[in-house]
Amino acid sequence: MTTDTTPGPDRSFLFVLGSSRPHGNTEILARAAAQQLPRGTRQHWVDLAQLPLPDFQDGRHESDGWTVGETEEELRQATVEATDIVLASPLYWYTLSAHTKRYLDYWSGWLSMPGSDFKQRMAGRTLWGVTAMADRDEVVADGLVTTLNHTAAYLRMRFGGLLTGNGSRPGQVRDDEQAMIRAKTFFARETAFARFPYEEQAESR
Ligand SMILES: Cc1cc2nc3c(=O)[nH]c(=O)nc-3n(C[C@H](O)[C@H](O)[C@H](O)COP(=O)(O)O)c2cc1C
Repeated sequence: MTTDTTPGPDRSFLFVLGSSRPHGNTEILARAAAQQLPRGTRQHWVDLAQLPLPDFQDGRHESDGWTVGETEEELRQATVEATDIVLASPLYWYTLSAHTKRYLDYWSGWLSMPGSDFKQRMAGRTLWGVTAMADRDEVVADGLVTTLNHTAAYLRMRFGGLLTGNGSRPGQVRDDEQAMIRAKTFFARETAFARFPYEEQAESR
């Protein structure tokens, strides 16, 4: 099922930059897509490499609970306040960068925080992906698409898809004309609720 979800003033985009270098290709591509968002659409940008976020520690089954750090709390607030979460991660070893993966791991903690309504709040929101990669064939990013789709399916979110661009040196993605064209309409595309493959099979029976 797809629905017209054209962004507007009621939408608030969180851009999570996950490169390990500043002003890289992924950010350039994400900013090119963001430029096309309608006026009034709120945007909040965070650069994970600039934040002192420690590695996630799995305290989900500890009876004493766990202490929430300042950076973690800032990120949690930014995440739950967004209607749209854009993971802008370079393709590292065919999947998310470590910075981005670390941020996502925190979602598991937020899901099981005492009194947490994280799962309810995320349901119905939209997850998007933006990635830059050295390979010219976007098929090598299929693993990343699967990760994002399944993450969205688990949280009953919509999945907007993955915007890809080619580049190795910073700035090189600007030479990928097709990627820059795709960026112009990326956030205007229709989105659907993400489904696990077994759910799609059951629905088609
Ligand atoms: C640790 C690391 C792993 C990488 N893995 C891949 C990969 O699996 N496939 C690929 O096509 N490019 C890979 N690259 C190249 C980057 O995706 C490419 O340089 C991209 O432009 C980096 O984006 P950025 O400028 O936003 O950091 C890798 C680069 C690094 C540093």
